[in-house]
Amino acid sequence: KRHLLEAGDLDRADATLVLDTAAQIESALAGREVKKLPTLRGRTVVNLFYEDSTRTRISFELAAKRLSADVINFSAKGSSVSKGESLKDTALTLEAMGSDAIVVRHGASGAPHRLAQWVAGSVVNAGDGTHEHPTQALLDAYTIRQRVGRLDGVRVAIVGDVLHSRVARSNVWLLSTLGAEVTLVAPPTLLPVGVGSWPVQVSYDLDAVLPKSDVVMMLRVQAERMNASFFPSAREYSRRYGLDGRRMGVLPDDAIVMHPGPMNRGMEIAAEVADSARSTIVDQVGNGVSVRMAVLYLLLGGAPE
Ligand code: CP
Repeated sequence: KRHLLEAGDLDRADATLVLDTAAQIESALAGREVKKLPTLRGRTVVNLFYEDSTRTRISFELAAKRLSADVINFSAKGSSVSKGESLKDTALTLEAMGSDAIVVRHGASGAPHRLAQWVAGSVVNAGDGTHEHPTQALLDAYTIRQRVGRLDGVRVAIVGDVLHSRVARSNVWLLSTLGAEVTLVAPPTLLPVGVGSWPVQVSYDLDAVLPKSDVVMMLRVQAERMNASFFPSAREYSRRYGLDGRRMGVLPDDAIVMHPGPMNRGMEIAAEVADSARSTIVDQVGNGVSVRMAVLYLLLGGAPE
């Protein structure tokens, strides 16, 4: 494959290859003083970000640098985008300067797909609108496999603002491809139209789902898109769908709690849960570097060392 545009494009073998490659990279680098492989020397990766990011942008930068690629960080803020330059012209400009891969985050769903039609190099979707965030789902799957030991038959509850969540969409497709049993838990107003055709179960009752979950993935409440038509108040949302210490107490003993970040502490997740031993939130961030190294390595065809 040349691009990574959506999790739905990955079959079980593709997804497993990414996870296994990430694990190999992690063990190859473990214990090394210089955490660097020479595999993408001479290649250029552009991070093309039209929306803000902390985790995704920095971990793609680190991933490319650890593979010895040159990295250009492009932020729409401060660029000629403010003068009206289009996505296509921006991408062609970057490619003319020698980019081999463009990692793109954009507010418009489908922007990475358009980009892939215009450029000769690889395109990686780093989050497009409310559509998909495939590398987030890959790092989440990697973290579940690491902590739970498997993906097949693992019961995953994805909780909260599914309507606006590209993380939820990518996880639904990837985790079901990998054999997990996904349940979406949300108020009806925060579930997308068409969820009935997704490979998931749906519940409005978090307390009923928690005791039957091996993994609870809390979603960020996207307050910037929220209004009273979605939910009466933040307090009411938190009471019905927030994960606090009491609710964490009804989880099975080995269950883990995930969150893609950034978190609204005290809203969808209490601080005592985010900072607990069950939380994989910091592991997810660390695993993001290995998984993104694997994605860049596989797309750009780096030769094994
Ligand atoms: N999880 C995630 O995509 O975080 P950022 O927006 O900080 O990249």
